[in-house]
Amino acid sequence: RTVYVNGEYLPEEEARVSVFDRGFLFADGVYEVTSVLDGRLIDFPGHAERLSRSLRELEMESPVTDEQLLDIHRELVRVNGIEEGMVYLQVTRGVADRDFAWGAEGEPTIVLFTQSKPGLADNPKAREGMKVISIADRRWGRRDIKTVQLLYPSMAKMAARKAGADDAWMVEDGFVTEGTSNNAYIVTGGRIVTRHLGEEILHGITRAAVLRVARDLQMEVEERPFTLEEARAADEAFVTSASTFVMPVVEIDGASVGEGRPGPVAARLREVYLDEMR
Ligand code: PDD
Repeated sequence: RTVYVNGEYLPEEEARVSVFDRGFLFADGVYEVTSVLDGRLIDFPGHAERLSRSLRELEMESPVTDEQLLDIHRELVRVNGIEEGMVYLQVTRGVADRDFAWGAEGEPTIVLFTQSKPGLADNPKAREGMKVISIADRRWGRRDIKTVQLLYPSMAKMAARKAGADDAWMVEDGFVTEGTSNNAYIVTGGRIVTRHLGEEILHGITRAAVLRVARDLQMEVEERPFTLEEARAADEAFVTSASTFVMPVVEIDGASVGEGRPGPVAARLREVYLDEMR
């Protein structure tokens, strides 16, 4: 596999990042995941825009222009022959002697790689639905910045796995924030309900597109927090992300949502979203 590191395309075995990189020492970096279908990037402009925002919030500068970034994405997809999969991009503050304060480092570090994932669009999970558990949201308070500090979401994912579930919905002050790596939704009272944007959740690129699709389909959308109790009593539940698109949730903490099968709203949104994006 060919990867990209700081201006160079290299075989993955030859790619190097310093042990003094602040991404490694402090999780001082941000990332994006863009999916690839039919060899084409899905919603690249959305991801590029959110990257700029994450960087700005952390007083970092992008080492490349959006145009260069797009070229690098396309080149990696091409050389690695990715038909279905994703491109991972990470920008860290760079290399400096270990110090909590930043400012001494040179250029940011930029790394991109691809992962091939055949069956991303025609995912059997989308027909079965996912099981989730609930777990306290113990992440930091700026979840709107897409940082690489993903230890708590990893712990939550492991807790889900140990419980025989696929993912975890995180709960704070009685309300669902989001999944470990996706935004959370329910369908109740004929409306799609998903948490409003703020610092408590990541502003999903798929979320923005799916809500646009929902409104185009004359579905009613309510952007507000919802509780686990509301979710358990809902007609449907689902999540969205660049890697799952729209994915039904059929079980929460062992109890069925609706009839315990993927519902029509999630199915329709998935279908129309994929149609429009590819
Ligand atoms: N995760 N919420 C969180 C906490 C996420 O990590 C993600 C994305 C999302 C969905 O955002 P988007 O629709 O832009 O992918 C919501 C990526 C896919 C990941 O970490 O692999």
